[in-house]
Amino acid sequence: MNKKDIDLSIDFCGVKFKNPFLLSSSPVSNSAEMVARSFEAGWAGVAFKTLNSDTTPIIHPSPRMNGIQYGNKKLVGLQNAEMISDRPLKENLADFLYLKKKYPDHVLISSIMGFSNDEWAYLAKVSEDNGADMLELNFSCPHMSVEGAGHHVGKAFDLIEKFTATVKRAVSIPVMAKMTPNITDMTEPALYAKRGGADAIAAINTVLGISQIDLNQFTPKPNVFGLGTISGTSGPAIKPIGLRFISEMAKCKELALPLSGMGGIETWVDALEYILLGASTLQVTTGIIHYGYDIVEDLIEGLTDFMVEKKITKIEDLVGRALTNLTTTDKFDLKRQGRAEYNLDKCVGCGQCYTVCKDAGGFALDWDGDKRQPVLDKDKCLSCMICSFVCPICDIISYKEMPDTWKRQDAVVMGKDLEDQLNFQPFKQPI
Ligand SMILES: Cc1cc2nc3c(=O)[nH]c(=O)nc-3n(C[C@H](O)[C@H](O)[C@H](O)COP(=O)(O)O)c2cc1C
Repeated sequence: MNKKDIDLSIDFCGVKFKNPFLLSSSPVSNSAEMVARSFEAGWAGVAFKTLNSDTTPIIHPSPRMNGIQYGNKKLVGLQNAEMISDRPLKENLADFLYLKKKYPDHVLISSIMGFSNDEWAYLAKVSEDNGADMLELNFSCPHMSVEGAGHHVGKAFDLIEKFTATVKRAVSIPVMAKMTPNITDMTEPALYAKRGGADAIAAINTVLGISQIDLNQFTPKPNVFGLGTISGTSGPAIKPIGLRFISEMAKCKELALPLSGMGGIETWVDALEYILLGASTLQVTTGIIHYGYDIVEDLIEGLTDFMVEKKITKIEDLVGRALTNLTTTDKFDLKRQGRAEYNLDKCVGCGQCYTVCKDAGGFALDWDGDKRQPVLDKDKCLSCMICSFVCPICDIISYKEMPDTWKRQDAVVMGKDLEDQLNFQPFKQPI
């Protein structure tokens, strides 16, 4: 099998995508000129920046974003307080016509947000009339200054159902509901969207948070002339949250709708993880803000190489493949135990494993000062594996399952000397 045999195309609610990668609704999908360049780079479609109906003027705060840096790594997350499109509806719709004419084989998804029932219907209809292949209903922008819009709708489940049903009556193209992650359970509102007639679910929008405080002005960032706000976090920092919500919805038999996954996708591995947990199209914003449209080449190449290696020709055969292995802790086989295994050939003697095992693990490491190496007492290892997470070198520390005859020594919780020094009283059961 080689790359030519691989088929990345996907059918999503009856709409054909040549690969699963789309721009998500945001500044990266703000105009026809931008979207056209992204299509040339290889993206299969776009969820256009959420349309506004012009009845409510949109003015974005300035500045409206803050990049989250951790150590030397830039943009592990992005904070934004941006609203929906501030462009006139007419201009956005003219962009739709242009894009559909020039790129008929690419998928144009119109993201909409109405501020009344009639507006939802109106935006849906004009989107369809101007060439949109699908709709995405934005029930999830976390910082709209317009009351009763954005994620306020996403948290009022009956409104999700009502507006979805309104839109479904207005158009015949497929309709996808985009959900807020600022909620404990996404399956429930997704079921309301389904009852309203939604054909698919998109998730996640940004996660409410505060990324950083301006220490000179005591103001959360972005610092908008002395004031900050709780706003939307995106990028790699939110990927675990996105994966969790996608997997829960994918596992819900009653929901059974196609899922468009997003939140922190930057590499083909991120993309594949979303696919394995049930997403069949993937959307990206922060990855593009960080690296530009060309990351799609790496996304496509990485996924293709992986499929060649695994001898899987169709991407749809990967959708949800990890779900059967996703369970609850009560299903774990606790009889099976293991420990860390050390291969010290490449050890640089930094001692981080020793420190972490002592201060947060099972006291299973001693330190050989002459060799500047850890010495593992195998029978004390808790298999927490935190030593491997702090080790700066790959392949030194791995996990090894032990035979059932192996017995882990009980961890030393408190030494005898310490007990004596503190005049320690053993714990008594309350009567
Ligand atoms: C600056 C910015 C503006 C956004 N605007 C919108 C929007 O207008 N409509 C929408 O549905 N989502 C909007 N989003 C959310 C993204 O589409 C996406 O759901 C979120 O950023 C998670 O994906 P990511 O981690 O790839 O960025 C915006 C995100 C950012 C960072």
